[in-house]
Amino acid sequence: MTTLSSPNLADGSVLITGATGGIGEATVTRAITDGAFVIACGRDANKLEQLSSQFEGNIHTLCYDVTDEKAISNAFREVQKGVSAKKWPALYGLVNGAGVMSETVLAMTSADALKQQMAVNFYAPYQHMQLASRLMSRQKAGSIVNIVSQVGELGSSGMSAYAASKAALTGATKSLAKELAPMGIRVNAVAPGFIDTALTAHYDEKAKQKVYERVVLQREGTAKEVANAAIYLLSHHASYTTGHVLPVDGLFCP
Ligand SMILES: NC(=O)c1ccc[n+]([C@@H]2O[C@H](COP(=O)([O-])OP(=O)(O)OC[C@H]3O[C@@H](n4cnc5c(N)ncnc54)[C@H](OP(=O)(O)O)[C@@H]3O)[C@@H](O)[C@H]2O)c1
Repeated sequence: MTTLSSPNLADGSVLITGATGGIGEATVTRAITDGAFVIACGRDANKLEQLSSQFEGNIHTLCYDVTDEKAISNAFREVQKGVSAKKWPALYGLVNGAGVMSETVLAMTSADALKQQMAVNFYAPYQHMQLASRLMSRQKAGSIVNIVSQVGELGSSGMSAYAASKAALTGATKSLAKELAPMGIRVNAVAPGFIDTALTAHYDEKAKQKVYERVVLQREGTAKEVANAAIYLLSHHASYTTGHVLPVDGLFCP
């Protein structure tokens, strides 16, 4: 029988990418509030420094670009060094939050924009899962949460590259839940709808109203609401849930 052990968040450390972004920072805050030690990853040194001083003692920051494969390997080496030196507890959680979105119709989508979205939204989370699962399998316990998107589930005109990159991550989430279960690792995803962060800051009021017309709850979501869902799936409260995608979208009706 496969047992999925899910220790309390307070017993482990959690690596969060995109920690300097809206949803990432909210997830860092919730994880630390719930007692986890957080390894916060981003590429903006100033914002990481702010997080460090805000959560001193409960956080370690790592500055790297998630499209740099070598930097990701180095980051996990540093995580394990810290565990061995007892600076923080063993890696229990991973939240793949870093993401980029370009809105262009098919005819105007450049190869670079397509590659960048695949690199940040799919290849990077995949490599993070590969390296994290190696560490988590040692203690036969771990929980991975990927931040995907309702656009990846439902599709959206003018967002085919973004949708494809997120749908790829959803496919990996469902497959890895099956593959990693014998190692005690759960893998789930959160699929936000329209959330008020820097990613959607280019929408003016009129464009936002058009979106809200298609949302049953008639408003945008907050980063905190997405973080709450991510932390639920990450934690022992979701110990019998793996391979699922939890929408946080106010019920979006395309
Ligand atoms: N907001 C929404 O409506 C919405 C909806 C569905 C899904 N999502 C997903 O939610 C996640 C978080 O997005 P958000 O809304 O919080 O947007 P955000 O505030 O723009 O945060 C995105 C984060 O990703 C980081 N990032 C981007 N490219 C990177 C790279 N190459 N290397 C390292 N970090 C990189 C950004 O760092 P920099 O600040 O350095 O660029 C930032 O920390 C993303 O995966 C996004 O696709 C958001």
